[in-house]
Amino acid sequence: MSGIYIHIPFCRKKCSYCDFHFSTSLKHKTELLAALQKEIVLKQKLFKKESVNTIYFGGGTPSILNELELNQLVEIIHNNYNVDENMEFTIECNPDDITSKKLNEYKKSGVNRLSIGIQSFFDDDLQFFNRAHNANEAAQSILKTQDAGIENITIDLIYNSPLLTLKKWEQNLDKFISLNVPHLSAYTLTVEPKTALHHLVKTKQTSLPTDEQAIEQFKLLMEKTKQAGLIHYEVSNFGKEGYFSQHNSNYWKGQNYLGIGPSAHSFMNNNSSQKRSWNVANNTKYIKAINQNTPYFEEELIDETTAFNEYILTRLRTIWGLDLEYIKNTFNPVLLNHFEKELEAYKNSKLITISKNTVTLTTKGIFVVDKITADLFYV
Ligand SMILES: C[S@@+](CC[C@H](N)C(=O)[O-])C[C@H]1O[C@@H](n2cnc3c(N)ncnc32)[C@H](O)[C@@H]1O
Ligand code: SF4
Repeated sequence: MSGIYIHIPFCRKKCSYCDFHFSTSLKHKTELLAALQKEIVLKQKLFKKESVNTIYFGGGTPSILNELELNQLVEIIHNNYNVDENMEFTIECNPDDITSKKLNEYKKSGVNRLSIGIQSFFDDDLQFFNRAHNANEAAQSILKTQDAGIENITIDLIYNSPLLTLKKWEQNLDKFISLNVPHLSAYTLTVEPKTALHHLVKTKQTSLPTDEQAIEQFKLLMEKTKQAGLIHYEVSNFGKEGYFSQHNSNYWKGQNYLGIGPSAHSFMNNNSSQKRSWNVANNTKYIKAINQNTPYFEEELIDETTAFNEYILTRLRTIWGLDLEYIKNTFNPVLLNHFEKELEAYKNSKLITISKNTVTLTTKGIFVVDKITADLFYV
């Protein structure tokens, strides 16, 4: 089980909250796509023995690509990797890019899952976020995708944002449920440095809801999705049975993945060692380095303590939880002692459940996941 992630670092507009790597200038798109093709071939040697069961085009805005551009990348992946015929193939789409024509092209290219960046079904939120789409396009993009016969859809929604009341959040969730979409990623708005949102908050032109209001919104999110039959399988992710993101689940379960494109990360676990690498987050530098055969990424060997902390960080946020047998068999006595001592303190807290050698969070525990994680970390 392993995945390939392709980063498409272009967007039509800069959303007010976003600090992902992208450029709003499409001037170097052709050179960048040629560099991506080269990197796909270059990294093939790392994945010789792997069977690829997920492909994920993320961004930036992958739906900016035309049919030919997407197909060239897909073909090179198929020619160089051992792609499982039942793979999950996701593409992130902005609602304003979704047309019936595009959806049919996607189906022909093998895309079988769409991740649509809705964010909100309200125009005032979308304008505040500086999104390129409006509320009508948000709903229409989902209906069009379903009409095209792609039912494996996930949408992104953002809560805890300045203009979002509890009532509006409820309406957003009701709209999501009424559209019968099988998966939701719901993110609490994070104020990232150097974003327009950061400036607005810093200059007191806007403010986020209070912590209590944020908790109320998260509670409502959990209640509504549960009533609708979705499983809360990761802190920010909710899916019907059979519709969990396989690609992201691979990340959380420590499977290998290759990241292609500027800013993309890769992770390789070769039993004896774990290695992570990250590509330069700059389009011009990336293109130049790929073409001149100079380093375009940095890498690090992951030591045992980091591996332990990362295991806690990713797994505690999921329904799969911490596998006590795995921890016992994998980590050294110092880490084990620390873990057992810290875990003991939580045993009667009603924040965690220990069953069948697995530690998972209770509903109460989900609200304090960051604190529990910090306590279990070895520093
Ligand atoms: C990087 S975007 C790529 C998807 C696509 N370009 C789009 O915007 O529709 C992935 C998702 O991350 C979420 N996101 C990005 N920055 C965020 C922030 N500062 N706070 C909360 N969610 C954020 C948004 O929900 C967004 O849809
Ligand atoms: S949220 Fe999506 S569309 Fe907006 S800037 Fe970030 S990557 Fe681009």
